Amino acid sequence: MKLSAPQIAAKKVSRGADPLVMITAYDEPSARFVEASGADLLLVGDSLANVVLGHEDTLHVSVRQMCHHIAAARVGAPSTHIVGDMPWMSYHADVNDAVRAAAALVRAGADSVKLEGGRVRAEVITAILNAEIPVMGHLGLTPQSVMKFGGFKVQGRDDVAAGELVLDAQAIDSLGVFSMVVEGVPAELGSEITKAVGVPVIGIGAGPAVDGQVLVFHDLVGLGNRKTAKFVRQYLNAGELMTAALREFGNDVRTGKFPTDTESY
Ligand code: KIV
Repeated sequence: MKLSAPQIAAKKVSRGADPLVMITAYDEPSARFVEASGADLLLVGDSLANVVLGHEDTLHVSVRQMCHHIAAARVGAPSTHIVGDMPWMSYHADVNDAVRAAAALVRAGADSVKLEGGRVRAEVITAILNAEIPVMGHLGLTPQSVMKFGGFKVQGRDDVAAGELVLDAQAIDSLGVFSMVVEGVPAELGSEITKAVGVPVIGIGAGPAVDGQVLVFHDLVGLGNRKTAKFVRQYLNAGELMTAALREFGNDVRTGKFPTDTESY
């Protein structure tokens, strides 16, 4: 059964809920696998730029591209809550444009949208919520801030930075986000933020004491060609299995073993 944003908002581990499972997907097959796995949420992340389109960062993806992939994921996962990621520059310049971009993701098939940033995004979060679109926050090592951070670096390591992140989390919680991703922070800070807010915190590299975990599909099943972060656990080497299958097909063609009579008309 598809979870609604209010149902997800109520799923705090401290109130007895099971941890939430969120997995990214970007097309019909990956979304179908995620739905079959029983994940609570499916994120069509802007990591699309990395793992599907081959870019070094997440800055090279547009609203149009996100919509294209959200629509495909919706076909594969009709009964799973889909979060559509707001790409870089879709909500940084103009609030009205941001609301229209969020609506485009919903019309493509998303049940909610996710955007990066804390107090600095208060106005745009409020505007999207006022358009009746549920918003998931994203704090910590926010990949769209890679130029500002000078790389993909763990955030909130010192007391001042950690305190700022707690304030950001409390601010977006009080604005009305239904949950938030916290990425790339020390485990202790992941736990502190989780205790400081009323909505579920879904961690990625934020330690175990949060309300759920998210991983990128391609990292989890071994389809990527990038060096994965310390927080990734690879459960399968699908890339190796797929290459072996493709090589076998090539060998069969070259040696006349494919096609056989049963594979011919
Ligand atoms: O785009 C993405 O995949 C994400 C996750 C890393 C949370 O934002």
